[in-house]
Amino acid sequence: MTNNILKQKHLLFLKKYPKEDIELILNTAFKFREVLDRPIKKVPSLQGVTIVNLFFENSTRTRISFELAQKRLSADTVNFSASSSSLKKGESFKDTVQNIMSMKIDAVVMRHPAPGSPKHLTEFIDAVVVNAGDGAHEHPTQAILDMMSLKEKFGYLKGLKVGIVGDILHSRVARSNIYGLINMGAEVMVCGPPNLIPRNIKDLGVDVKYDLDELIEWADALNILRIQKERMGQPLIPSTREYRSSFGITLDRLRNHKKEITIMHPGPMNRGVEIDSRVADSEQAIILDQVLNGVASRMSILYCLCGGYSNEMEQNER
Ligand code: CP
Repeated sequence: MTNNILKQKHLLFLKKYPKEDIELILNTAFKFREVLDRPIKKVPSLQGVTIVNLFFENSTRTRISFELAQKRLSADTVNFSASSSSLKKGESFKDTVQNIMSMKIDAVVMRHPAPGSPKHLTEFIDAVVVNAGDGAHEHPTQAILDMMSLKEKFGYLKGLKVGIVGDILHSRVARSNIYGLINMGAEVMVCGPPNLIPRNIKDLGVDVKYDLDELIEWADALNILRIQKERMGQPLIPSTREYRSSFGITLDRLRNHKKEITIMHPGPMNRGVEIDSRVADSEQAIILDQVLNGVASRMSILYCLCGGYSNEMEQNER
């Protein structure tokens, strides 16, 4: 395995993640963003490195952007989908992974519905592990691309006021964004129905508003989250119509505030519920920039973790 330039071998979560490593990943991501604008969007940085994408849960953006990032870096990639695997014949998670690893894999990108499963994976394999979303726990690579998108838009993160709106309780995106943004000096406020805000949220260094208009007055940018019905045992909102009326980002609501505000969404969006099409498709939304930055961010993460930095870039750039 080639050298990892970051302090930790794996990227499992952003809780207590070193600030200087977030800075290095972001700076490297901006360099890869330039590569993506070239006619030939490919560099040889991870030639000879083999990466497997283990997806035990559905994904569009994360999965495609990791695959693209690996191809852009010239890594060899293998894709595993739980739904078409021998897990369906009763094979265990551990046996599945150990069989894959015996084929000499250098790094694993894993999405799994069970919180903590990427950490669990590190206990019985030697390869680098990247968490691509573990249940309602964390989604560190999403937070990295969100921070990159904010930095691209505003030029800074320190002092930036970021509102996160929606189902905070079940959101791995919210949790990773909070850890990352607070670490980088941003201010974070969450907003949503009281039963969808974790009770200990203030311990993470964020404030809470239950009034969306007050949040809009305060924030420079809003990250809008969907209601994660698949993670709720029973319905936790009275109706979609009532949710939209209190917490939906509509053009009329934004116009009332007469201020510039940047709109983000990690996807998948439920148009007409947490966000209206006229907002999602407007100039103030950077949602598709987030998707493109997802490729650059994931290139950067794999590059830093799998030794690209030590091979190609001057270490004194840190
Ligand atoms: N943002 C995000 O994780 O999207 P996917 O579930 O489509 O990967």
